[in-house]
Amino acid sequence: MADKKVLVVGSGGREHAIVDALSRSPQVAKIYCAPGNAGIGLQAENVPLKDTDVEGLKAFALANGIDLTVVGPESSLAAGLADAFREAGLAVFGHTKAATRIESSKEFAKELMFKYGIPTAGYRSFSSYDEALEYVAGRPFPAVLKYDGLAAGKGVVIAQDLEEARAALASMLLDEAFGKGRVVVEDFLTGPEFSFLCFVEGKNVYPMPLSQDHKRAYDGDKGPNTGGMGAYTGLPFITDADREFALESIMKPAAAAMCAEGCPLSGVLYGGLMKTPQGIKVIEFNARFGDPETEVVLPLLESDIYDVFEGVALGRKVEEPVWNDGVTLGVVLASNGYPGKYEKGFEIGGLEQVDAKIYHMGTAFRDGKLLTNGGRVLMVVSGGLDVADARERVYREVAKIRCDNLFHRTDIAHCAFE
Ligand code: AMP
Ligand code: GLY
Repeated sequence: MADKKVLVVGSGGREHAIVDALSRSPQVAKIYCAPGNAGIGLQAENVPLKDTDVEGLKAFALANGIDLTVVGPESSLAAGLADAFREAGLAVFGHTKAATRIESSKEFAKELMFKYGIPTAGYRSFSSYDEALEYVAGRPFPAVLKYDGLAAGKGVVIAQDLEEARAALASMLLDEAFGKGRVVVEDFLTGPEFSFLCFVEGKNVYPMPLSQDHKRAYDGDKGPNTGGMGAYTGLPFITDADREFALESIMKPAAAAMCAEGCPLSGVLYGGLMKTPQGIKVIEFNARFGDPETEVVLPLLESDIYDVFEGVALGRKVEEPVWNDGVTLGVVLASNGYPGKYEKGFEIGGLEQVDAKIYHMGTAFRDGKLLTNGGRVLMVVSGGLDVADARERVYREVAKIRCDNLFHRTDIAHCAFE
């Protein structure tokens, strides 16, 4: 019976995909999203509360009889949203602040991986600029420098030479560009990267299909790093044995390690993994769904996502989720200039002709018109029998969208065709 009320926290394409998946659940009667966005507002009721307004969100959930809250962004988790909800007796899908350290503190994650034998790049951590610089100067380049905290994806610098390293270390440790913190210096690894998202409740790990994000702004993986310009499932370079290794030797041990450390996971564990010549290694862990990976992964879920979210939230074992064995591919349409400066307010047309899923990332409705309202604006996602099929379908649909200020990559999933 459809009687459940769900609150989704966040406002991006990821949250739109979560809302979309929940709207397919026969148990869900009402979905709220805080703060949501224009597209989400077509499938849920937007609530004008910030995703880090823990007290406001808790009061809303209590006042509106919310059965389950699903948290998208790491900033909400790092602000202690899940802790506050649990204390108030509210069911919440999302990790405690202590467990979120697997993402919010690079040093915590690195120590955990070394302690429990989870494969990752070698590293050292520094709070002193002089010591960090001396260490980096005595090692081969490129040097991988990571600020030890949440830095909105901007805290990682791959320095090609000493000058670049000096500038990055000065910004992180002397100017404290992201706040006071330490810097982790890592060995430089090579190989294709991929994302392994799993639902995790304590030691129980429920894998989702593997996906790959495209972080650079332009075709050929050129240009500046972005939040992600497209993603797909059905990775051609990962074998069944690779996936098995990643699940058994990385994701499950990480979940067990967090239990042993007294901060069990209860949400999504996202392994940012690399297939190096020495085997699969962890580049980073995230404590949340990836964006734009979620937009290609969740459409493949055939089970009722409410059961999965609720089971994890309540600490119950979940029936193994069932996934469609087709593939998906999604292309992000971003404002010209993104990830740098860009303008907003351009009209978007043609969406009603699009025969694919459209997830909104940064849009607004004004006077009955849909306008661009962010850096990443829309993501178009299509399924297919294989990657080539899905790619052809998506680009055919993307071509129907009219806007004077949007660009997109034309080579999503290029790895599959090389
Ligand atoms: P992170 O935020 O830790 O995922 O790092 C951002 C990006 O920097 C990753 O997606 C990789 O492309 C790159 N990167 C991070 N760590 C390393 C490493 N140890 N070796 C090579 N590239 C890395
Ligand atoms: N797709 C990268 C991220 O969600 O962090």
